[in-house]
Amino acid sequence: MAGTYTLRFILFFFILFFFILSVLLAMARGQAPTNSDWLLKIKSELVDPVGVLENWSPSVHVCSWHGISCSNDETQIVSLNLSQSRLSGSMWSELWHVTSLEVLDLSSNSLSGSIPSELGQLYNLRVLILHSNFLSGKLPAEIGLLKNLQALRIGNNLLSGEITPFIGNLTNLTVLGLGYCEFNGSIPVEIGNLKHLISLNLQQNRLSGSIPDTIRGNEELEDLLASNNMFDGNIPDSLGSIKSLRVLNLANNSLSGSIPVAFSGLSNLVYLNLLGNRLSGEIPPEINQLVLLEEVDLSRNNLSGTISLLNAQLQNLTTLVLSDNALTGNIPNSFCFRTSNLQQLFLARNKLSGKFPQELLNCSSLQQLDLSGNRLEGDLPPGLDDLEHLTVLLLNNNSFTGFIPPQIGNMSNLEDLYLFDNKLTGTIPKEIGKLKKLSFIFLYDNQMTGSIPNELTNCSNLMEIDFFGNHFIGPIPENIGSLKNLIVLHLRQNFLWGPIPASLGYCKSLQLLALADNNLSGSLPSTLGLLSELSTITLYNNSLEGPLPVSFFILKRLKIINFSNNKFNGTILPLCGLNSLTALDLTNNSFSGHIPSRLINSRNLRRLRLAHNRLTGYIPSEFGQLKELNFLDLSHNNLTGEMSPQLFNCTKLEHFLLNDNRLTGTITPLIGNLQAVGELDFSSNNLYGRIPAEIGSCSKLLKLSLHNNNLSGMIPLEIGNFTFLNVLNLERNNLSGSIPSTIEKCSKLYELKLSENFLTGEIPQELGELSDLQVALDLSKNLISGKIPSSIGNLMKLERLDLSSNHLIGEIPTSLEQLTSIHILNLSDNQLQGSIPQLFSDFPLTSFKGNDELCGRPLSTCSKSASQETSRLSKAAVIGIIVAIVFTSMVICLIMLYIMLRIWCNWRKVSVISSSDGSGNEHGREEVKWVYRNDKNVGQYWKVDSVTF
Ligand SMILES: *[C@@H]1O[C@H](CO)[C@@H](O)[C@H](O)[C@H]1NC(C)=O
Ligand SMILES: *[C@@H]1O[C@H](CO)[C@@H](O)[C@H](O)[C@H]1NC(C)=O
Ligand SMILES: *[C@@H]1O[C@H](CO)[C@@H](O)[C@H](O)[C@H]1NC(C)=O
Ligand SMILES: *[C@@H]1O[C@H](CO)[C@@H](O)[C@H](O)[C@H]1NC(C)=O
Ligand SMILES: *[C@@H]1O[C@H](CO)[C@@H](O)[C@H](O)[C@H]1NC(C)=O
Repeated sequence: MAGTYTLRFILFFFILFFFILSVLLAMARGQAPTNSDWLLKIKSELVDPVGVLENWSPSVHVCSWHGISCSNDETQIVSLNLSQSRLSGSMWSELWHVTSLEVLDLSSNSLSGSIPSELGQLYNLRVLILHSNFLSGKLPAEIGLLKNLQALRIGNNLLSGEITPFIGNLTNLTVLGLGYCEFNGSIPVEIGNLKHLISLNLQQNRLSGSIPDTIRGNEELEDLLASNNMFDGNIPDSLGSIKSLRVLNLANNSLSGSIPVAFSGLSNLVYLNLLGNRLSGEIPPEINQLVLLEEVDLSRNNLSGTISLLNAQLQNLTTLVLSDNALTGNIPNSFCFRTSNLQQLFLARNKLSGKFPQELLNCSSLQQLDLSGNRLEGDLPPGLDDLEHLTVLLLNNNSFTGFIPPQIGNMSNLEDLYLFDNKLTGTIPKEIGKLKKLSFIFLYDNQMTGSIPNELTNCSNLMEIDFFGNHFIGPIPENIGSLKNLIVLHLRQNFLWGPIPASLGYCKSLQLLALADNNLSGSLPSTLGLLSELSTITLYNNSLEGPLPVSFFILKRLKIINFSNNKFNGTILPLCGLNSLTALDLTNNSFSGHIPSRLINSRNLRRLRLAHNRLTGYIPSEFGQLKELNFLDLSHNNLTGEMSPQLFNCTKLEHFLLNDNRLTGTITPLIGNLQAVGELDFSSNNLYGRIPAEIGSCSKLLKLSLHNNNLSGMIPLEIGNFTFLNVLNLERNNLSGSIPSTIEKCSKLYELKLSENFLTGEIPQELGELSDLQVALDLSKNLISGKIPSSIGNLMKLERLDLSSNHLIGEIPTSLEQLTSIHILNLSDNQLQGSIPQLFSDFPLTSFKGNDELCGRPLSTCSKSASQETSRLSKAAVIGIIVAIVFTSMVICLIMLYIMLRIWCNWRKVSVISSSDGSGNEHGREEVKWVYRNDKNVGQYWKVDSVTF
C-alpha cells in the first residue's frame, strides 16, 4: 500500500516537473501557455477509468478533443462537457485559465475538492453544471462575478456553509440548483434580485430561518423546491404574488402559522406540498380557485376546521393528502363530481365525523382511499363497488357499524382491505371470494359473527388474514390449504370450533399461525410439519388434544410455540431439535414422560414453560448450556431428583420456578450466580439443608418462595441485600434462630410469611421499618418470645397480621391502634396481657383466645387494668379530663334540651334523623371493616409478561 502511494507521489512530481519545465520552455520561447497546455495539466490530475480523455493529446487539435467545443473559427474553447464520465480527482487548479468557456458541465462524476475562488475569472460562463459529485467546502463569493450565468446547478454534492449573498448579482440566472448538499444559514434576501429565475431548488439542505419576503422578486419562478430543510416562521404572503409558480414544495420544514390566503393568486399551481410542517388554522377555501392543481399534500400539520378543498372544483386533482391533521366535520357531500380524475384520497388520522358520504362514490377513478383513524360512523354504503378501480381501501379505526356489503365482491381490483377496529357486525359475505387480487384482509377488533366462508379460500393471492377479536364461529375452512401465498393467519380470540384442517399444512408460505383463544378441538394434523417457513405458532386456550405430530421436529424456522391451556398429551420429544426456538410454552396440558435433554438444541431458548403437566424424572443438567434462558417454569409437575448444580449456569434467568414438584437435595451455594433473578420459587418440594448465604447475591429478587420444604438452619443475614424484594415466603420449614434484623433493608416487602418454623428470639424492632408491608405479616406457629415491638404500629398499610402460637408476652402496644387497614388479626395462643386496643374490639374472639391475661372487648371487660390506666395519668391530664367531662355533659344537656324542643315540635322527624345518624352508620363501618378486602393490589405488583399473539 505505502509502496504504491509513494510511487504515485513520485509520478505526480515527475509530471509536475515536466509540466513546469514545458511552461518555462514555452515562456522562454516567448509564448504564454495555451489553453491546451492547461487542459493537459488538468488531464494529468484526473483519474479516468474509462479513458474519456484518451484523445486529449498534443498531437490532436484541441477542438477535436472529447467533450470540447470551440467557436466556429476554432480560436476559442467555448464548452467543456464531461458529464457522466466516471472521472475522479480534483480539476480546479488550472481550469480558470480557460476564460473563454461559456458552458461547463462536469456533472455526475466523482470529482472532489472544493470550488476555488478563481472560478470568478470564468466571466464568460453562461452554464455551470457540477451536480452529483463529491465537491466540498463553501460556494465562493466570487460566483457573483459570473454575470452572464444563466444556469447554476451544483446540487447533490457535499457543499456546505452559507449561500453567499452575491448569488444575487447573477441577475440573468434562470436555473439555480443547490439541493441535496449541506448548506446552512438562511436564504439570502438578495435572492429576490433574480428576476428571471424559473427554477429554484434548495431541497434537502440544513437551511433555516424564514423564507424571505423578497422572494416575490422572482417573478418568473415556476418551480420552488425547498423541502427537507429547517425553515421556520410563517409562509410569506408574498409567495402568493408569484403568478408563474407551477410547483411549490415546502414539505418537512418547521413552518408555522396558517396557509396564506394569498395562495389563491397562484393560478398556475399544479403541485402543492406542505406536508410535515407546523401549519395550523383552516385550509383557505380560496385554494379551490387553483383549478390546475393536480397533487396536493397538506398532511402531518395541525390544520383544523372542515375539509374545504373540493374535487368538484379542483377538477384536475389526482392526489389529495390531508392525513394527520386535526380536521373536523363531515367529508363534504359536494366533494366529488362524475368525471373526477382523483386517484388517491388520504384523509387518515383526523377527527372527521359523520357517515361514509354517498357522494364519494362519484369519484369512480379512485384507486386508493384512506379514511382510517377518524370518527366516521354508520353503515358502509352498498354502492361501494362503484369504486371499481380501488386497490386500497383503508377504513380501519373508525366507528363504522352494520355489515360488509356483499357488493364488495365486485371490487375486483381490491388488494388491501383494512376494516379493523370498527363496530362491524354480521358475517363475511360469500362474495368476498371473487376478489382474486386481495392480498390483505384485516377485520380484527370488530364484532362480526357467522362462520368464515369457504369462498375466502378462492382469494388465491391472500397473504395476510387477520380476524382477531371477533365473534366468528364454526370451523376453519377445510380448504384453507389453497391459499398458497398465505403468510399470516391470525384468528385468535373468536369462537371457532372443530379441528385444525389438515390442508393448512399446504399453506407453504405461512410464517405466523395464531389460533389461540378459540374452542378448537381434535389433534394436530401431521401436515403441519410441511410449514417450513413457520416461525410463530400460538394455539393456547383451546381444547386441542392428543400427542404432538412427530413431523414438528423438522420445523427449523420455528421461533415461538405457545400451546398452553389445552389437553395435549404424550411426550414433548417432537419439539426437540428446533434450533431457532426462543420461546416454548406448554403450560397446563397433560404432557408426560421425561423432559428431554435434547431441548438444548434450541440454543437461543429464552422462555421455557412446562408447568402444570405430568412430567416426571430429573431436570436435565444440560439445561445449564441454555445461556439465553430467561424464564424457566417447570412448576406443578412430578419432577424428582436433585437440582443439578449446572442449572445455576443460566445466569440470565429472571424467573426460575420449580415449585410443586418432588425435588430433593439441598440448595447449592451456586444460587448466587443467578444475579438477574427476580422470581425464585422452589416451594412445595422436599428440599432440605440450609438456605445458603450466597443467595444474598441475588440482589434483584422480587419474590422468594421457599415454603413447604424441609429447610433448616438460620435465615441468612444476607436477606438484607434484597432491597427490591416484594414477597418473602419461608413458611413450613424447619428454620431456627431469630429473625435477622437486617430484614429492615428489605424496604419494598409487601408480604412476609415465616410461619410454622422453629424461629426463636424476639420480633426485631426493625420490622417496623417495612412500611410497605400490606398483604401479610405472618410469624405464627414459631417459638418467638418477648414483647410485640411498638414499631409494628408503623405498618399502616398492613391488612393481615398473624403472630399467633408463639411465646409473646406483655401488653399489646397502643401503637397498634394505627393499623387501621387490618382486616385479619390473629394474636391467639400467646401470653399477652392487659387490655385489647379499642380499634380491635370488633375482631372475633378467636383473634385473641389463649391469652389468659388479655381483657377488653371482644374478651371480658377489664375494670382493674382500666383503673391502673387512670392512676398513671398526670395531674394535668386529670384536670383536662375533668374539664372535658364537664364540657361534654353540658353539651349533651343542651342537645337533649334541643331535641326535646324538637320533639315538642315534630317527634316523627327527630326519630328518623337519630336512627340514621346513630346506629346505622356504626353498623356501616363494621361492614366495611369485615367485608372490604383490597384484592386490587394483590398480584398486580408482580408482573409476569407473556407472549401474546
Ligand atoms: C455584486 O454587486 C454589487 C453591486 O452591484 C457589487 O458592489 C459587488 O462588488 C458585486 N459582488 C460580486 C462578488 O460580484
Ligand atoms: C443578460 O442577458 C441579456 C441577453 O439575454 C444580455 O443582453 C445582458 O447583457 C445580460 N446581462 C448581464 C448582466 O450579463
Ligand atoms: C387541467 O385543466 C385544464 C383547464 O381546466 C384542462 O385544459 C386540462 O385538460 C386539464 N388537465 C388534465 C390532466 O385534466
Ligand atoms: C392422549 O389423549 C387421547 C385422547 O385425547 C387418548 O386417547 C390417549 O390415550 C392419550 N394418550 C396418552 C399417552 O395419554
Ligand atoms: C407423581 O408420581 C407419583 C409416583 O409415580 C404418583 O403416585 C403421583 O400420583 C404422581 N402425582 C401426580 C400429580 O401426577
